[in-house]
Amino acid sequence: MPTSVTILGIESSCDETSASICVDGKILSNVIATQKIHEKYGGVVPELASRAHIQNIVPVVDTALKESGRSLNEIDAVAFTQAPGLIGSLLVGAQFAKSTALALGKPLIAVHHMQAHVLANLIGEHTPEFPFLCLTVSGGHTQIVKASSPLKMEVLGETIDDAAGEAFDKTAKILGLPYPGGPLIDKYAAQGDPLAFSFAKPQVPGLNFSFSGVKTSVLYFLQKQQQEDPNFVRDHLPDLAASIQYTIIEVLIKKLKKAIKETGISHVCIAGGVSANSGLRTALENLGQELNVSTYRPDFQYCVDNAGMIAMTGYYKYQAGDFASMDVSPTARASW
Ligand code: KG4
Ligand code: ZN
Repeated sequence: MPTSVTILGIESSCDETSASICVDGKILSNVIATQKIHEKYGGVVPELASRAHIQNIVPVVDTALKESGRSLNEIDAVAFTQAPGLIGSLLVGAQFAKSTALALGKPLIAVHHMQAHVLANLIGEHTPEFPFLCLTVSGGHTQIVKASSPLKMEVLGETIDDAAGEAFDKTAKILGLPYPGGPLIDKYAAQGDPLAFSFAKPQVPGLNFSFSGVKTSVLYFLQKQQQEDPNFVRDHLPDLAASIQYTIIEVLIKKLKKAIKETGISHVCIAGGVSANSGLRTALENLGQELNVSTYRPDFQYCVDNAGMIAMTGYYKYQAGDFASMDVSPTARASW
């Protein structure tokens, strides 16, 4: 094994094309090209996403190398998102990673996107100790994970229907906001009253979640209000956003609290795109104080889909000698 390990990480599971260089567990660059094309369709269009990945991948990797000050022949392994995600998008990253590894004569590392979201918490200075709990909240997933070591993780609970990010995006769509609506709900919520309106908080047993009832509750409430006042949404946008955000966060924090109490684990993280939400970040800090546990959240650039977390996971897999064969295929759905 080389004394210093340099990993090129590639992420292409959805609508972000990203590349990163990680040297000995430190991220030297993390370049993210967000595909704006999907905004006008109100959601990610898979075929357009894969085409955009094809256009973006070479310049994004090139920029990541330049920003890190490393050259391609200094790379010791190529890590890429193997699952889960949009199959056409995953294929672009997988093919690029395989060709690069083959051309360099270096190993290939297949990374599970959700495991990488959790490990984003190990990037930077303020990092959790093992074992830790992680609430991973993204556009496609909502999970509570127990991480016993970088590569040993167990899903303790997950959503049985919509993900938390989907709940944000779908309710934002009902409010007439463009995709992705999560960050816009966050923005408007800052000026609103979280207790102005009350929406359903779906209950499911154990550490699992359910969110599909939130959008239905918002939809029926607004249909009724708009019959009386067609400008209801326009006139109450901050209060609506704040109340929706409050509802989703309450559901998330309640289950995280239950997981902390049941496991007795005192290092607690959040991860995934929704962990960028300012309300959730504050709620996590408050929970830390209430239960006397240490809380962690990735820097914003490592919350959303990014290759830094893929390169970081690749670094741990490299140390464990966990390499993929050249005939590995990406998988749209994969548990772990
Ligand atoms: O992890 P991510 O970038 O992609 C997936 O793997 O899905 O998460 C994207 C999700 C979207 O649903 C987006 O609306 C949500 O994260 N999101 C937010 C915020 N920033 C991103 N939701 C609420 N508040 C935010 N500030
Ligand atoms: Zn993600």
